[in-house]
Amino acid sequence: MGSWEVLITRRIPEAGLELIRRECAVRLWEEDRPMPKDRLLALAAGKDGIVCLLSDPMGADVIAAAGPQLKAIATMAVGYDNIDVAEATRRGIVVGNTPGVLTEATADLTWALILSLGRRIIEGDRLVRSGRWTGWAPTQLVGADFAGKTIGIVGLGRIGKAVARRGRSFGMEVIYSNRNRLPESEEAAIPARYAKLDELIAASDFISLHCPLNPESYHLIGRERIARMKRTAYLLNVARGPVVDEAALAHALKEGWIAGAALDVYEHEPGLTPGLIELDNVVLAPHLGSASLETRNQMAKMTAQNLLAGLKGELPPWCVNPEAVRR
Ligand code: DGY
Repeated sequence: MGSWEVLITRRIPEAGLELIRRECAVRLWEEDRPMPKDRLLALAAGKDGIVCLLSDPMGADVIAAAGPQLKAIATMAVGYDNIDVAEATRRGIVVGNTPGVLTEATADLTWALILSLGRRIIEGDRLVRSGRWTGWAPTQLVGADFAGKTIGIVGLGRIGKAVARRGRSFGMEVIYSNRNRLPESEEAAIPARYAKLDELIAASDFISLHCPLNPESYHLIGRERIARMKRTAYLLNVARGPVVDEAALAHALKEGWIAGAALDVYEHEPGLTPGLIELDNVVLAPHLGSASLETRNQMAKMTAQNLLAGLKGELPPWCVNPEAVRR
């Protein structure tokens, strides 16, 4: 047991837990559900470091409740929209995340969803299990082709590019929209064509969201944009739930404005927007983007490395606010 007091808000893979336990006294939340806010506030008190998950709201209140000795927050995720980074920086607390390592796993999961949705695999599975399947039929569960179609990627960062590369290998044209257009050499390497978001919405057969959640991307895809999609198009959200106005999406799917949607993330995660589960043209995954064994082990190790560096007053290897160290 070491000299630092650390809170870990959910059991993480042993590969990371072990590293932390070697040097810290660990308070681990063992329940199989996110820590309730009042417990988070209470258990954060007096800790030198916190390992959190994307489901923990690490706002100014939690940071204040921890106390002035808090040195490091390490999230086991690439996204850190749940953390008040500005407040952490103001207090000289470093925040670490896990970029890069989950890129391929998340792109694989995105393609698993694209294929399941387009080729109606989940509907087929339900049919077979129901005992109502009467055998091969020419018009049964016919879905979409991929070759020759257009995939529109919203947010061509690391994960977006990995999804785009897979799209190319399926024979698809790739268009993308970003806050800033990429250099031509990066576009050519995929290849992908830049389009304004509204052009992408209207032109794509599959729209895949990979942008971070921030004030500009909140409800980026709402009623008006969904209404401008092709009636044969599919929407995928593997980014963050609130990027999509889910009530508008549920309405559009029910009314047949678009062909279908697949969600790995939810606006009120883990709550479901009413109307979604009744629909056959929706595939719902429980936030599995990075859920492969090697990836999760590696994420846990990176989280531990970030935490330990921060506790030692060093720059964490994957730090989202390096300026906190220089304070
Ligand atoms: C992340 O790391 O932000 C992902 O959403 C976890 O799968």
